[in-house]
Formats: sequence, C-alpha cells, structure tokens
Amino acid sequence: MNDSDSTDGSSASGAGQSRRKAGGACVVVTGAGGGIGLAVVQRLLRDGWAVLATDRDAAAMTALETLEQGHAGLWTLAMDVSSRAQIDEAGRQADARGVAVAGLVNVAGILQDVGPLLAMDLEAQRRIWDVNYFGAEQCLQAFAPRMVANGGGAIVNITSINELQPLPLHAYAPSKVALGALTRLAAGELGAKGVRVNAVAPGFTLTPIFKEKLESGKRDAGAIEAHTALGRLVGTEEIAAAVSFLLSDEASAITGVSLPVDAGWLSTAHWMNFGTLLAQ
Ligand SMILES: NC(=O)c1ccc[n+]([C@@H]2O[C@H](COP(=O)([O-])OP(=O)(O)OC[C@H]3O[C@@H](n4cnc5c(N)ncnc54)[C@H](O)[C@@H]3O)[C@@H](O)[C@H]2O)c1
Repeated sequence: MNDSDSTDGSSASGAGQSRRKAGGACVVVTGAGGGIGLAVVQRLLRDGWAVLATDRDAAAMTALETLEQGHAGLWTLAMDVSSRAQIDEAGRQADARGVAVAGLVNVAGILQDVGPLLAMDLEAQRRIWDVNYFGAEQCLQAFAPRMVANGGGAIVNITSINELQPLPLHAYAPSKVALGALTRLAAGELGAKGVRVNAVAPGFTLTPIFKEKLESGKRDAGAIEAHTALGRLVGTEEIAAAVSFLLSDEASAITGVSLPVDAGWLSTAHWMNFGTLLAQ
C-alpha cells in the first residue's frame, strides 16, 4: 500500500491523483512539440494539471508558450530524451522550483518508413531505439523516484498498435513492443510504491507528421480506413482523452495495461484475409 495515501484514506478511495493535482503537482510530458504530445498537454491543462512540457525542439516549446498565452499551469523546457544529462537537468530544475511530479507521459518518438529488414542501417535503428525505448526508460528512471517521494503517481507510455501487431517498420515496431514490455515490468516494480504504469497504443493518428506521410504516399489512408472497424483514422484529442483517463483516479486500479486507441483497427485488420467472402 502507498504509505502517504494510506494516512488520509485516499488510497482506498482512489483520490491520490486528485489530491496531488489540487496541490499543484505537475505531469511531465515529453515530445510535447506537436501532434499527440501537444494534444496531451492541452488536455491536461484543461483537466487542471500543472504541466512540464518538454521537447528536443526548443522553437516548438516557445510556440507552445505563445499558443497557450502564458498559461499559469504551463512550464516548458527544451529536453532531448536521448540525453540522460538533459533529463536529469529537467528534474533538477523541477526540484529547484519546488514542483512535485505526479505524472509522466512518454510521447517523444521517431516514426519510420516502410523498408526492407535486410537493408536496415544499424545507426538508424539505434537512433529510433534511443528515443522510442531508452528515452522513455530514462525518463521513467529519472521521474518515478520523484513520484514515489510525492506519495505516488502515474506514468503513461505512448506505444503504438505496432506493440500489439507489428507492422513492417523494422526498428519502430520492436522498439514499441519493448516499450510495452517495459510498461508491465515497471508496473510490477513500482506498484507497491504507489506508481501506476500503463500504455496507450495509438492507431493511425492524424498528426501533422502522419498527414505528411499520407500526402507523400508513404501511408495509404484508403486502405487503413477500409480495414478499420470505425472506418476512419484517430484524432489526437482521442489519444489525449485516454492518457487523461489513465493518469487520473478514474483508473486507480489499472496498471500494466496497453490500451489501444485505434478506431478498431486491431479488431478488423485481418479480415482482409476473407477477401470478397465478407461481402456475401
Ligand atoms: N501519428 C501516429 O499515427 C502514431 C501512431 C502510433 C503511435 N504514435 C506515437 O505517438 C508519438 C507521437 O507521434 P506524433 O505522430 O505526434 O509525432 P510527432 O513527430 O508530431 O511528435 C513527436 C515529437 O517528439 C519530439 N521528439 C523526437 N525526438 C525527440 C527526442 N529525442 N527528445 C525529445 N523530443 C523528441 C519531436 O520533436 C516531436 O515534437 C510517438 O511516440 C509515435 O511513435 C504515433
């Protein structure tokens, strides 16, 4: 049981995150410069969380400050998740400001184009793993102890449908499978310390970078829609809603899961094997 929660009975009532939010504790978001990360930041601010928004793209952080017009709950920082030194510096700055950390959302990730496994360049694969897997793991190592010190918290890793059904993205898919495994390992290790760890596994989501891939012919929107239960792609705000839920006390008994937010792609993608039989 989480000691700090047990003293005020909030563990049993599941009110730990609400109490931390009311006390001004923050959620750290990586990859907050655009797409899913930006939607997550905006949703969490609306939920009443203080947010430490980070991205390796410093200009995107300045743009976010402008977009949110100096929102009192928002603090931005340029941070590259492939640099443990920069992650530790962000932690030190949060401590120096007296900001308690109650949440972490690991969004930062590098997408990949389809290509042959046998031609995959090792350095290119390492860059993807350094961000998608080790970046999330290093942030977890840095910020989870701060949550424990604050009586608990919640972590959400953004994986992908590739975690659950690998597609021919030969470094990206394994990095997301591993991040899903890390989610369950960390849930097991941190549960007794009051920290829940879950993942959201987005389907094909209409972020600017994904729209570019559609427009340049690197993904096929028609094929995706045809093989998705809801017949459409996913909105960034729909991913943010799932993150908001998993961070909140509404999910107080949920840890170690990967929640697909994919408009039903995982349910129906394989139906194509029945070809024209389905139409009968
Ligand atoms: N868009 C999709 O269809 C989709 C589907 C499944 C999963 N995802 C995952 O969602 C996450 C966000 O994807 P997106 O589509 O919004 O992409 P995006 O490129 O718009 O956002 C990624 C953000 O991460 C930042 N980033 C990249 N490397 C970084 C690093 N080393 N340190 C800190 N920040 C870094 C980028 O600057 C960018 O702001 C990724 O983890 C991606 O794998 C996306």
